[in-house]
Amino acid sequence: MDHFLIRGGSRLSGTVEISGSKNAALPIMAACLMTDGINRLHRVPALSDIDAMTRLLVDLGCRVRREAPRKIDIPNHPDLDGAMTIEVIDPTSVDPGDDDARSMRASICMLGPLLARRGKAILAQPGGCSIGERPIDLHLKGLSKLGARFYREDGCIVGEAPDGLRGATVFLCGASGPTVLGTINVMTAATLAEGETRIVGAACEPEVVDTARLLNAMGAKITGAGTSEIVIEGVKQLHAVEHTIIPDRIETGTFMVAAAITGGELRLRGARLDHLVAFVDRLEQAGAKVIQQNGDVLVRAGDRPQSVDYVTWPYPGYPTDLQAQLMALLSTADGKSRVIEHIYPQRFKHATELAKMGAQIDVTGSTAWIDGVNTLVAATVRASDLRASAALLLAAMSASGSSKLERVDHIDRGYEKIEQKLACVGAEIDRCPAKPKLTVSVLGREPETAPTVEPERTDRQIVA
Ligand code: EPU
Repeated sequence: MDHFLIRGGSRLSGTVEISGSKNAALPIMAACLMTDGINRLHRVPALSDIDAMTRLLVDLGCRVRREAPRKIDIPNHPDLDGAMTIEVIDPTSVDPGDDDARSMRASICMLGPLLARRGKAILAQPGGCSIGERPIDLHLKGLSKLGARFYREDGCIVGEAPDGLRGATVFLCGASGPTVLGTINVMTAATLAEGETRIVGAACEPEVVDTARLLNAMGAKITGAGTSEIVIEGVKQLHAVEHTIIPDRIETGTFMVAAAITGGELRLRGARLDHLVAFVDRLEQAGAKVIQQNGDVLVRAGDRPQSVDYVTWPYPGYPTDLQAQLMALLSTADGKSRVIEHIYPQRFKHATELAKMGAQIDVTGSTAWIDGVNTLVAATVRASDLRASAALLLAAMSASGSSKLERVDHIDRGYEKIEQKLACVGAEIDRCPAKPKLTVSVLGREPETAPTVEPERTDRQIVA
């Protein structure tokens, strides 16, 4: 695995272009399975999770192409995401590759489109970042209400809707609130269901709204996206479209913390503050100055960060995906801050790594107390998940000395060319490629055969 070497202490200054939203692009790519013709998507970020979704679409009979990268007219800025086209060539497959499905959570977004358009889906249990329990019961409950039947076979979830889906009223709130991808999955499937579907307790995140905007452009009839009740009037078919993905609000927030933690000042081009109201409220309380100016966001560090308390909550509350990054900033704040993680109560693995840099963080259950120190010190730290890796990178940029950040494959899942973007505003980060694995060959000996794997039992188990 690659690692980063980060020389801390540089004050960031300059302009960065914000990429398209990963969490909007992934379900939007999956929704393209439901159309005929060539879809053209702008601002799909170049990320390893997007590569995995691309392979899944190819497995499902799509032709996916990337156009030439976009030149960004900012000195030393890396080129970004070229437009992507997606066209269904062979609509018969319902069974994408297991490895990619298991590698990321968003593979679950295939379920709705496949059931609605092809009447069947076979999907490995989705994986994703190690941030605690990530059940899919609400997805299965919602799609079952529309008439799909599910069972497990050979370690996969099999869904069937041979006679098509029918509209229904679906309540999609779980113990921790609404589900983002669950709402998107059911909403997407319902566009081709017969009659009206009403999703009550829907997630209100901007990624839900962007997917609804795409589907409506494709010919769907969705109202209420962005509120807790979404109504979908089923249509017979959807057509291909051209669509521009919204800017990534989590990348935006991460760069805002980068300015604040390095005592710097950044202009974030193409960012949207209206998607980050709760986060900006806390960042300003911590002392940073934030303004929207001509379509850009300007963020300037305050004198010294001040402590703040925050609770992660479904949108429009404080996003769990920016919990770790603000914790890095508050590690050097004046006073004691408190964080309550409501969405993923165990999402605190970064706290142990931040402690290696001198942070004083005490985690009890779903609450973390952060006692601010004057400065962080360089250390070797290891990323456990995507947003944890961003927090560690931010901390290392503010620390005195050179830090090593291991397992940057996590950061590559969700931040497009992050070290190059940060370098163009003054950060000193080197990507060090992993050493190739040594393969030892012994003369005269046949290579060992792969171990055999016992097949799983294939008796059908109804799961919803
Ligand atoms: N939940 C259930 N049952 C379900 C689904 C969810 O109990 O069937 C629970 C979860 O365990 C969690 C809560 O509901 O406690 C919310 O989970 P949600 O379903 O909203 O999460 P998600 O849709 O799987 C997306 C993002 C995550 C982000 C969450 C919350 C994508 C690909 N992932 O996940 O992003 O943390 O919403 O905002 O869109 C990230 O980008 O780093 C990331 C983890």
